[in-house]
Amino acid sequence: IVLKEDSSLPKAVKIKIGRKDIELGEGDKKGTRVKVLGRIHRLRAQKQATFITLVDGYGHLQCVLQAGDLTKTYDALTFAQGTSLALYGEMRKLPEGATAPDGRELLVDYYEVLGASPSDQDAITNRVSSQQNQWDPQMLDQRHLVLRGDNASSLMKIRAAVERAFQKVYDDLELTKVSPPALVQTQVEGGATLFSAPYYDETAYLTQSSQLYLETVLPSLGDVYCIEKSFRAEKSLTRRHLSEYTHVEAELDYIEFTDLLDHLEEVICRVIDIVLDNPTIAGYLKELNPTFQKPSRPFMRMKYTDAIDWLNAQDPPIPNEEGNPHVFGDDIAEAAERKMTDAINRPIFLTHFPVEIKAFYMKKDPADLRVTESVDCLMPGVGEIVGGSMRMEGYDELLEAYKKQGIDSKDYYWYTDQRKYGTSPHGGYGLGLERFLAWIANQHTVRTTCLYPRFMGRCKP
Ligand code: 4AD
Repeated sequence: IVLKEDSSLPKAVKIKIGRKDIELGEGDKKGTRVKVLGRIHRLRAQKQATFITLVDGYGHLQCVLQAGDLTKTYDALTFAQGTSLALYGEMRKLPEGATAPDGRELLVDYYEVLGASPSDQDAITNRVSSQQNQWDPQMLDQRHLVLRGDNASSLMKIRAAVERAFQKVYDDLELTKVSPPALVQTQVEGGATLFSAPYYDETAYLTQSSQLYLETVLPSLGDVYCIEKSFRAEKSLTRRHLSEYTHVEAELDYIEFTDLLDHLEEVICRVIDIVLDNPTIAGYLKELNPTFQKPSRPFMRMKYTDAIDWLNAQDPPIPNEEGNPHVFGDDIAEAAERKMTDAINRPIFLTHFPVEIKAFYMKKDPADLRVTESVDCLMPGVGEIVGGSMRMEGYDELLEAYKKQGIDSKDYYWYTDQRKYGTSPHGGYGLGLERFLAWIANQHTVRTTCLYPRFMGRCKP
């Protein structure tokens, strides 16, 4: 059977599935005749008709091919998930009692196959299984096909919306966006997680954070931010560590520590508001995380020393990594941090970490020189999503800090110069976009929040 378009029908209007302003036929009233291009997402062949759920990246559309010539072509008999099609037909209101996206369906009168997809053992349905977790290695190998699924694609739409929201909020708060380099010759967060790369006759590293560069432009641009990739050669395979991640970083000039905390709370809450104000995105979020609630303000503020006391006061106490009670100076490891965050079950600003366990550039608390003016923002289900601090202001103090860390100050002359040519009280933070997404979209691991995750042992597809 060879299909032919009926030339007596009205000319079809080409639309994307997202378009909602289409006249729907109902009873004797004719709906608009449209042409929709997309791929078969689901296929159900029944005696009286074949039902196709078509996707095009803008929505889902139920399409009906009534049994007859339309369903008897070779193309129709070999339709499969992924088949790329142009479908022509009348858009109709759904019959009473039926359900389909947007309450409508396309009554197909003609189609063209633009790209077939295998319906044999190589079919997409045999390569991707909804029974398997998206973070299973086999599914990560098929990530390019997994991304065609509803969960993965709505998460990517949410991700784009979140990134847009950050840009909007920073714009509203008058921070200027800059784009620091990814290839650098300085460390920010310790030498242990640096990736090095041959760079002509020198060695370069992939940046761990753009913070130091952001600090250099405060004098001319005022408050600044960037959304760039950061890289960490993490030798651990935790649920929340990636080798390459998207880092939302901001730096604010002439502030005090409490200003930094207030700003951070404001940014996080405004971003959530913007995301939830978008009905489509809010719908995706509702599917992925039905119980998500806007965080209540103000966020809890807890000092590191109080967190240590809290961990020890639990019954049974939550031990440190060596299995002993926590003491001042201990890192609060991921497991303990998660337990605390989940028990408290609201956003926490954990502040004033000891100097010894924090980065060289952090400012000491004038009221207690053992600790820094630092903050981690902890969210239920994920733990730390933000790390920030006030920055050391003094020239000599900074040189001393390099020495203590075994850093060669020569490579940092440009950073040190900020203290030489008019230093200022300033601070900033970095937020892991993937962790933020894992929090709001209730993901077991940050790996499913990336287009193509990179972590130890995985650099493909
Ligand atoms: O706490 P971190 O290491 O802080 C910095 O890099 C600062 N220089 C940022 C700044 O002040 N401008 O990292 C900040 C955030 C973490 O809270 C976490 O959300 C994320 O970056 N992050 C990671 N996300 C995924 N995988 C990893 N390996 C990450 N390491 C840090």
